[in-house]
Amino acid sequence: MINDALTYALQNIAVPRKRALWLYGDPAIAFGDVYHPWHSKVHALENKGCNVFSTMESLARDYDAVIVECPKQREETQGLIALALLCSGRFVMLAAPNNAGGTRLRKTLEAYGVKVEHMAKHHCQVVWTWNSVDADKEMIASNLSQLVPKQITMEGQDWWTQPGLFAWNKIDAGSKLLLQHLPANLAGKIADFGCGYGYLCAMMAKQFPGITHIDAYDGDIRAVACATSNNSKKVDSIWQDMRGFAARPLYDAVVMNPPFHDGKEEDVELGRIFITKALASLKSGGRLFMVANRHLGYEQKGLTVLVQKEGYKIMTARAS
Ligand SMILES: C[S@@+](CC[C@H](N)C(=O)[O-])C[C@H]1O[C@@H](n2cnc3c(N)ncnc32)[C@H](O)[C@@H]1O
Repeated sequence: MINDALTYALQNIAVPRKRALWLYGDPAIAFGDVYHPWHSKVHALENKGCNVFSTMESLARDYDAVIVECPKQREETQGLIALALLCSGRFVMLAAPNNAGGTRLRKTLEAYGVKVEHMAKHHCQVVWTWNSVDADKEMIASNLSQLVPKQITMEGQDWWTQPGLFAWNKIDAGSKLLLQHLPANLAGKIADFGCGYGYLCAMMAKQFPGITHIDAYDGDIRAVACATSNNSKKVDSIWQDMRGFAARPLYDAVVMNPPFHDGKEEDVELGRIFITKALASLKSGGRLFMVANRHLGYEQKGLTVLVQKEGYKIMTARAS
């Protein structure tokens, strides 16, 4: 949807392409320089010949055009719009589906004091300005803070986190439930697939003295950075798209709250891939413990439901 809308806009507006930057550009349509924190996108964009940045610190400030594929999360989008205005010397274009922030895009950009044009296409809104240099500098500086990790107190503990990460400003109820149902004898080398800002791995490292090491993987480099800040040396945080993970029988247990969304779309298959990779990562006798929303059809031979509670199910399997 958003790709179709942007493709249409690019065909109908003379967007300067020579020095263009995309924020969260999709490999299907992006060109030039692209900022993307997701491992899978970075490789696909590089394969397409784009110049990719996975952190924003080294982005230039003099692009002719900056194009933003706005994510669903509101504060993250606010930060990206500010970053686009900071990096562009001239033109900024934003796009979002109507049902994921699109309808407020125009007002959000106008609030910077710039002249805004817009079009509606493919159930998305595309808005743009040619005078990004006139944007309110104080507002840019203030909203840029949405893209930076911050330490916040959740349930009595301080956590490094940032908008855009899964459940970024709360402890996820499913992960909490999973932690409560882990066996007291959990020990050895553990993996956390899809670690987010590092809640599960940090709590396991604290609560289970028998754990010697945890590898915590996530496909979003911002999550990996936060997980590193939230953890001791016992935990290695690793930037990895689990779809491309070369699983080997290394772990005594995999403990995870797998994703079931790819970007904005529900994708149960992604959760199933996590399960397959987790089972293939267990040593003989090793155990998988995972939490899932109750409606998700993850049932398969060898994977049993330990508990069903509060809309979640805790599932487990043992490697033969
Ligand atoms: C349901 S969240 C769980 C986060 C964290 N473990 C917690 O309990 O709060 C799933 C995590 O998987 C990550 N993720 C999504 N797709 C991924 C992929 N293809 N490869 C690796 N990680 C992925 C997301 O960034 C997110 O942090």
